[in-house]
Amino acid sequence: MAWLALLALLLAGFAHARAKAANVPSVHDEAHMEMTLRATELPGDRARADAIVVAARKVMAQYPTVEDAERAGFVKFLPGVKLPIEHYTNRAYAIEAWFGHFDPMHPTSLIFKRSAAGLELVGVMYTASNNVDRDDLDARVPLSYGTWHRHVDFCKGPAGTPRSEYMPPAARFGLVGSIDSAEACATAGGKFIPVVFGWMVHVWPNETTREKTWAVDAHDDGMMHDHGAGMVSLGSGSGNGLPIPLAKLPAADIAAGDPARGATLFAQDCASCHGNGAKNGPDAPALAGAGLSPGQVAFMVRHPQAIDAASAMPSIALEDRDLADIAAYVASLKE
Ligand code: HEC
Repeated sequence: MAWLALLALLLAGFAHARAKAANVPSVHDEAHMEMTLRATELPGDRARADAIVVAARKVMAQYPTVEDAERAGFVKFLPGVKLPIEHYTNRAYAIEAWFGHFDPMHPTSLIFKRSAAGLELVGVMYTASNNVDRDDLDARVPLSYGTWHRHVDFCKGPAGTPRSEYMPPAARFGLVGSIDSAEACATAGGKFIPVVFGWMVHVWPNETTREKTWAVDAHDDGMMHDHGAGMVSLGSGSGNGLPIPLAKLPAADIAAGDPARGATLFAQDCASCHGNGAKNGPDAPALAGAGLSPGQVAFMVRHPQAIDAASAMPSIALEDRDLADIAAYVASLKE
């Protein structure tokens, strides 16, 4: 999953300085959402918009199922977390879109909707960087049809903030949180991220009306809530994919442990954040294959805020033997 961290870094990193200079007429009347204003329709807009819908439909026909999408290199956003709306993202297409080239046959994400029957492909998402201006967005997808939007004013909670504080009904942090200013975020001890990711626009080719085909997205479907929680971990990427680079993480003295026993303990104490097998989690980085030594794992568990005072890794009280076993297990994991 290293590329996911890379992508997050790319998107979040570029996003840091909010690109107000880039002159995009937009509204920000809903907390955490900035949306482009609907432009007056110009000659040619309709043909361009229709061509995008046709392309989106073609792309969707190529990858009708999740398996098809995965075979073609689309990877689930937030692996390990079941969402009502799933984005499967193509790294190459995301990067292509970010650096300027728009190809309607190359959507950054395919969007699947979860139902009792499984995952159904319902739409696509195109993206652009925060550095583009109004005309560039319009040239990609006419502003008289599509509504480009981006997630803004994200407050990442301080160390140890429970997941519940990112989720309704009592969210304070994240994309549905009550905190939406740098000042309020600082007061709450959080880290303020003005723009998370870049510009996005959705197309729902199976819809029958223009409004529905170009709808922003289904706010009431819970997607935003889960995005809000998930971006906690995505916001903190770094060089080798770990928030705290290996070279900075000291090793504690720890006895040799039993990885098999450690696996069970890890599932109980760590997997809720780091994911099964530490491959990726909703709230914490993947550890598998990262090259951590047992001593480094132990150090992090004993002193979670020693290197990064704002680390969201909680203090977990463990007996030395249990910790040795968990550390041996994590260090043994391959990607
Ligand atoms: C409540 C969520 C949560 C739980 C539970 C949790 N962690 Fe973490 N862990 C994190 C977060 C978040 C980070 C990223 C640290 C940062 O951003 O500074 C992290 C970082 C780490 C790192 C350092 C990775 C790096 O950046 O170099 C290790 C090692 C680690 N955790 C091991 C564990 C182990 C072992 C357990 C179980 C005993 C565990 N964690 C339980 C949230 C959690």
